[in-house]
Amino acid sequence: MKECVIVDGVRTPNGRAHKEKGWFRNKRPDELLSAVYDALFQRNPKVKPDQVEAVFVGTANQSGMCNDIARLGWLASGLPVNVATNGINQQCPSGMAATEHCARAIMCGEGDIYIAAGVEDMMNVPMGASIDFPPRIAKYFSPMELPMGMTAEKVAVQYKVNRQDTETMAYWSNKRAAEARDQGKFKNEIVPVEGVKDDGSPFLVEHDQWIRDDVNMEKMATLKPAFKPDGIVTAATSSPLTTGACALLLLERSKADQLGCKYHLKYKAGAMVGCDPTMMGIGPLFAARKVLERTGLTAKDIDVVELNEAFGTQALAVLRELGIEQNAPFKKTNLWGGALALGHPLGESGARVIITLNNIMKTDKKDAKLGLAMLCGGFGNANASIWEAVK
Ligand SMILES: CC(C)(COP(=O)(O)OP(=O)(O)OC[C@H]1O[C@@H](n2cnc3c(N)ncnc32)[C@H](O)[C@@H]1OP(=O)(O)O)[C@@H](O)C(=O)NCCC(=O)NCCS
Repeated sequence: MKECVIVDGVRTPNGRAHKEKGWFRNKRPDELLSAVYDALFQRNPKVKPDQVEAVFVGTANQSGMCNDIARLGWLASGLPVNVATNGINQQCPSGMAATEHCARAIMCGEGDIYIAAGVEDMMNVPMGASIDFPPRIAKYFSPMELPMGMTAEKVAVQYKVNRQDTETMAYWSNKRAAEARDQGKFKNEIVPVEGVKDDGSPFLVEHDQWIRDDVNMEKMATLKPAFKPDGIVTAATSSPLTTGACALLLLERSKADQLGCKYHLKYKAGAMVGCDPTMMGIGPLFAARKVLERTGLTAKDIDVVELNEAFGTQALAVLRELGIEQNAPFKKTNLWGGALALGHPLGESGARVIITLNNIMKTDKKDAKLGLAMLCGGFGNANASIWEAVK
């Protein structure tokens, strides 16, 4: 088997998907993709765009985004027509699936230079806008139990997660994200992008918009449940509606050496699972167990974890069941904050967590050997992948 290494990874800042407040409210998602492609090629001049074998782009709501944002976004960026593009929809794990498709293609020798990207515009293409539940699904699942927020409530009940613990998690997610931002830790991954004001004038967006500098337990405790009158999930313990894009440059290891490209992590293994869609948030537990078992590892062998915080309830349940963490502040998980603070542009996040994992292991956790990235996805898909430091 050949080896797949991460040569680079960049992302736009995440903007709120909010009609009045969102920094990217006047921006098209294909323009965000262009920004990360441009940055990748500018930062890696040894890799020429026409050498790329294929680009896989994760997006959860494809129909609203140019219909085929993978192809049209690439062409609209003025990039070579000879490069194949492939849109991937696996709901939230789309970006991770895109990355794993590239890794597997590299490992089996189909090609040696790939881009894995992810993009979502949750303002112009609202979550669920084009969902048309097949009527027959009601034979198996209650459609009332399928919306994401409802699944987060169900996980809380089944796995006995309480509101205060999820608020503590949201508190630390915001604190850590703010600290990482202020210490310049995201500088290597965030590409500043021009936003456009309503009067047409441009302004530079350099940071994630949602990070709440004023986060405090007292205020969070006053928020009303967002999905269920007697529920525990609030706007603070849900990932916010977000817009953003990211891209990873993945190379076959000897090709990277030949081109003189540096790298820190290689893909070790990945697993995708399906689970009960009414408790989709618990999926990463099964995906992580599967990939750990396949590689002969246990959760104790993992040094750094990036888990997408779709909701506080599901993230805590997954981490507790895996025996990785009990409560925030976490010791090895989401050390630069998670989606509760950074945001979660659905199809983007699976690739974003790998980019952040790579940067954490290159800087703050230089001695770490193994990193685990994982996330859940709407209707019961989940992915986990293990990345190994290459010395
Ligand atoms: C939970 C949800 C419905 C809330 O949406 P919303 O009502 O539009 O709320 P907002 O996110 O704009 O936040 C509303 C307010 O809550 C308060 N709030 C949110 N988080 C807070 C925090 N951590 N601390 C204090 N106040 C907070 C603020 O007052 C905020 O308004 P402001 O920032 O404009 O002042 C929405 O974010 C959501 O659906 N999230 C889940 C997305 C999802 O399912 N993703 C897929 C997962 S698989």
